[in-house]
Order: sequence, then structure tokens, then C-alpha cells
Amino acid sequence: MPRTPLISQAQIRTAVVRLGAEINERYGAHELTVVSVLHGALVFTADLIRRLDMPVRLHTVSARSYHAQATAPGELQVQADGLAELRDRHVLLVDDILDTGRTLAHLSTLIRAASPASLRLVALLDKPSRRSTPVQADFVGFEIPDVFVVGYGLDHDGRFRNLPDISVLAPAGTPGHADAPRPGPPGDTLDLRPE
Ligand code: IMP
Ligand code: MG
Repeated sequence: MPRTPLISQAQIRTAVVRLGAEINERYGAHELTVVSVLHGALVFTADLIRRLDMPVRLHTVSARSYHAQATAPGELQVQADGLAELRDRHVLLVDDILDTGRTLAHLSTLIRAASPASLRLVALLDKPSRRSTPVQADFVGFEIPDVFVVGYGLDHDGRFRNLPDISVLAPAGTPGHADAPRPGPPGDTLDLRPE
């Protein structure tokens, strides 16, 4: 399936620097426990935590809702061990993309049950038009339209996670194609049009 460029490496880098600064400002010197949602958030988390100045602990959980070659979500499968360790910690839940909201809503419920000192959510990408479960990220990299994207950790059927930039997995001229990506959140001046 052809890919159409959506967000370049340079744009991702700029967004990660901005998100790191926002998180540093929000938490100051408080120790932070980053919970990364594998596999999709692996690449983003690796870059983001290196922009953080406070002491950081890393925890991982696994979530899967796209099975085999699907580009529409199926049953949500979650593996989340050791959440009791999050008690009284400041927790930052990091995912690659906030789509229907099911994954982050479910993981937030599991984490809240462990009584953390605080819980905030980070999503590199946000597709607000797809939301079926009400959940909002506290820190967002880019708002994108309803297109299926791959690269920078995001996969289709297990592939494309290694691509350094983010592209749309659909041919130009089809409904999935991002002809006119929307701009990012307020304060984000990046131009998201394909290069
Ligand atoms: P949600 O539970 O529907 O919000 O979906 C979140 C999860 O679905 C993300 O963590 C991704 O792993 C996956 N996902 C959603 N949209 C895409 C996409 O466009 N490309 C690749 N994975 C996606
Ligand atoms: Mg995921």
C-alpha cells in the first residue's frame, strides 16, 4: 500500500522538544514515572524521556487493538503488570496515538486503581474526530484527521515501526488520504502539509 508523507522527522523532533519543555514546566523537580504503552509508544517514549530534566522512572504496559492487517480497531488486549508500584507516584502515561480513546481510558482506570499521586496523559498524535470514549490528553504533539498512519513506532500488521517519519497508509485521492491535515494544538505553529 502506498504511503503519503504527513509529519517529517524535523517536525517530530520539534514537537518532542516542545512536549519535553511543557512536561518539565508542569512537574518541576518532582520525580516522574513514565508508563509507556508498547509497542507503539516505544520510539516516542525513548525520545521524550531524554528531554526530561527531573528524575524519571520507566514502566511499560502492552496494549493491542489492531489485529493482523486491520486498519480498524478490534478487541482491546492489555497486559499491565506491576501497577501497584505506581502508588503515590506522579505518573505520565505515554502513547503514540489517541484514536477512539479506548486504550488510554482503560489504562487510566487501571492506573487510578493503584492510587498514584497524579496521572496525566501524553499522546504524540491525536485523532479527535474518532473519539468514542471521552478521554483527553494533557500533552499532545499533533492533531491529525481520520487517517491511518505508520512510522515512528506506529505499525500496520507489525510493520513500518522503524520509519523515522510519519506517513499515511493510503493512496492519494482515497478517503484515507490526508489532503488537508489540520494544524496542531494552540501554540503549535508547525505546518503539517506533506513536503
Ligand atoms: P484507541 O484505543 O482507539 O485510542 O487506539 C489507540 C491505539 O490504536 C494506539 O495506541 C495505536 O497503537 C493504535 N492506532 C490507532 N490509530 C492508529 C493508526 O492510525 N496507525 C497505527 N496505529 C493506530
Ligand atoms: Mg498503541
